[in-house]
Amino acid sequence: MLLLLLAFEWNLDWKHLGPPASWASERYCVRKIDGAGGHSSDFGLLGVPWCKSKIPVEWSKSELLFGLYDFLPVYATRPVQHNQWGTRLDHSFGLWFLARRLQPEIIIESGVHRGHSTWILRQAMPNASIITLSPEHPRSHESEGPFYVDAKAFYFTEENFTDFASMDWDQVLGDVVRHRFRVDKAKVLVFFDDHQSHLKRVQQAQQAGFKHLVFDDNYDTGSGDEYSLRQICDQLTTGGGHSCSLSSREAEVRSQRKRAWERAVDMTELCSMSGAWWGIRGEMRDNFDKIKVPISHQDHIENYKLVQSMLQIYWEVPPLASPSLSYQRAYDPARTVGPLLGEDEREVYNRLGLDKLDEWEFSEYIQMAYARLK
Ligand SMILES: C[S@@+](CC[C@H](N)C(=O)[O-])C[C@H]1O[C@@H](n2cnc3c(N)ncnc32)[C@H](O)[C@@H]1O
Repeated sequence: MLLLLLAFEWNLDWKHLGPPASWASERYCVRKIDGAGGHSSDFGLLGVPWCKSKIPVEWSKSELLFGLYDFLPVYATRPVQHNQWGTRLDHSFGLWFLARRLQPEIIIESGVHRGHSTWILRQAMPNASIITLSPEHPRSHESEGPFYVDAKAFYFTEENFTDFASMDWDQVLGDVVRHRFRVDKAKVLVFFDDHQSHLKRVQQAQQAGFKHLVFDDNYDTGSGDEYSLRQICDQLTTGGGHSCSLSSREAEVRSQRKRAWERAVDMTELCSMSGAWWGIRGEMRDNFDKIKVPISHQDHIENYKLVQSMLQIYWEVPPLASPSLSYQRAYDPARTVGPLLGEDEREVYNRLGLDKLDEWEFSEYIQMAYARLK
């Protein structure tokens, strides 16, 4: 009955979940602002940077919503209930949905922490081979509370840890995982939650022959600790589209939003002293902020062109709910695509039991991205 009601309440014809076509021309314009309240109309107010897809994704908004209906009872049984420093509700759902939709035979996870995302992947794909890479084993987090170790997964951790770039993937997939059966790299999903530059990860994944990539921390321009796909795809126009002038309309809007949203980025965070706005104040960050390389705007454009030439699909998981429902105050909707459940959908939100969850669960949305390489 609930499924039927949901089917009527949601527009089942909404096929393409990229930004609406109307945004394309106003991606970097500042639209009219009526406060910073987190209403559905706030979404995309400051433009949404977006790598271009050659083809649309194969799933619809209604499929995501039905997926959410199936996912929430699974999520309720997670062993790591409070996944500090890892994926929370929005990204856990995005990862689970993508894994189920893509049906990979092998999943590579780079960045494991306490094992929550490994658990999510296992719930989505009970029979897939999972390979996890991380300097530490989840059990090393025992003192922080529950952790998850997957009995069937291959762990490359601690003394066996090898970075994704240095793995001999043909050997590992062919000999270790598949016991010499042929591996179809198009049936491998790679999940990166390791805070390494997305530019290098995309290049390394392509070199290894992988096609399906999911990136957890897809930070907005001016924020984060790695050069993200979103930062790479933020604008192409020569000289940049962000005005670094403190007297600009964008500066005014950003400082207004900074007061309302914890992770909103104002001009002082976005721009360097010399007016560079790309990456993080003109720097390409890597490895949890340990590496900071200043790049020119031309370098940034070249990176954009390179990534665009490699991508077939770029898709950002939408946030689950409008902040007017979830009350989260961390990410700023002005820089994100519209939510799955808008402010008028409180009844559905409550019926799904989302109103019972702590707002903390909704506060780690960082534009998780699915990138399909050509
Ligand atoms: C944000 S946590 C991962 C959270 C986890 N995916 C989750 O949602 O439950 C990042 C993890 O990346 C690990 N890490 C650091 N450098 C790495 C590297 N080069 N390759 C893979 N993992 C790395 C860290 O030790 C940490 O466990």
